[in-house]
Amino acid sequence: MSTPRVKITVPSLAAYKADHRALTMVTAYDSTFASIVDAAGIDIILVGDSVATVMQGHKTTLGVSMEQMEYHVSMVASVKPKALIVGDMPFGSYQASPHDAVRNAVRLMKAGAEIIKLEGGVYVREAIEAIVRADIPVMGHIGLTPQSFHRMGGNKVQGRTDGSQIGGKDRVLLDARAVEEAGASAFVIEAVPAELAAEITSLSLVPTIGIGAGVDCDGQVLVLHDLLGLSEKSLTFAKAYNNLRQQSVTAVSQYIQEVQARTFPDSSHSFQ
Ligand code: KIV
Repeated sequence: MSTPRVKITVPSLAAYKADHRALTMVTAYDSTFASIVDAAGIDIILVGDSVATVMQGHKTTLGVSMEQMEYHVSMVASVKPKALIVGDMPFGSYQASPHDAVRNAVRLMKAGAEIIKLEGGVYVREAIEAIVRADIPVMGHIGLTPQSFHRMGGNKVQGRTDGSQIGGKDRVLLDARAVEEAGASAFVIEAVPAELAAEITSLSLVPTIGIGAGVDCDGQVLVLHDLLGLSEKSLTFAKAYNNLRQQSVTAVSQYIQEVQARTFPDSSHSFQ
C-alpha cells in the first residue's frame, strides 16, 4: 500500500535542501492543469506571471494585473493541492514601495497563495524584507528576470560577462546574496551559465530552483506548456516531454471531419 502524499509547506523547502532532495516545480494557471500536475506528484505549483505570455498571448509578462493574478491563484487553490502554491507578484505590484509590496502580497495570500514570488535582487531587498516582516514567505527570482525585458533588450542570458554591472556575473552573485539575506525561503535562478548557478547553489543556505541554469540547482522549474509540448516555440532549456499541441490539432481535425461526415454523434454518444 502506498503512503498518502504529505502536504508540501514552506518549511519543506529547507528540509529538501538539508536532505539533498531535488525540488520539482511547474507552472499552472487553472484548476484543470493544477489537478493534473498535483496528481503527478509535483512539489510546487507556480502560478506564474508567465500567464501573460502563455495564456494571454502577450509578448512580455508586463501587462498582467493584480486582479488577474488573484483570479489564477484562486483557481489553482480551489484544487487544494498537496503541492505548495506560489503566487507570482505581477510587474508594478512591488516596485514602487515596500508598502505596496506588502499590500499586494497580502492580496495574493488571501487568494490562496502559500508563498509569493517576486523578481530582482539588490533592488528588491527592502520589498522582500517588508513582506517577510509581514509574516508572508517569499521566493526570490534572479538572473534573467522577464519583467526586466526592456532593460535587458529581450530575454537574455545573465552572468556571462565579468563585473558587478547589471547582467554581470558578480551582480548575479550579489543579487543571490541580497535575496537570501532579506529572508527569502528559496529563489529561482533563470538563464545563467550552469557553473555560476552551481556556485550560487553551493553558497546558498536556502534552496535554488533553476530554469535554464544547469543541473546543479537544488530544484528545477519549467513552464507546463513547454513541458507538455503545447507551446508553439521550443526553447533551448525547456524539454518537451510530450507533443500535446500536435496531438490536440489531430484530435480537433478528426472531430471536424466526423461532424462534416455526419458520423458524430453516433448512437453511443446520443440519448435514446
Ligand atoms: O512566471 C513564470 O512562469 C516564472 C518561471 C519562468 C520561473 O517566473
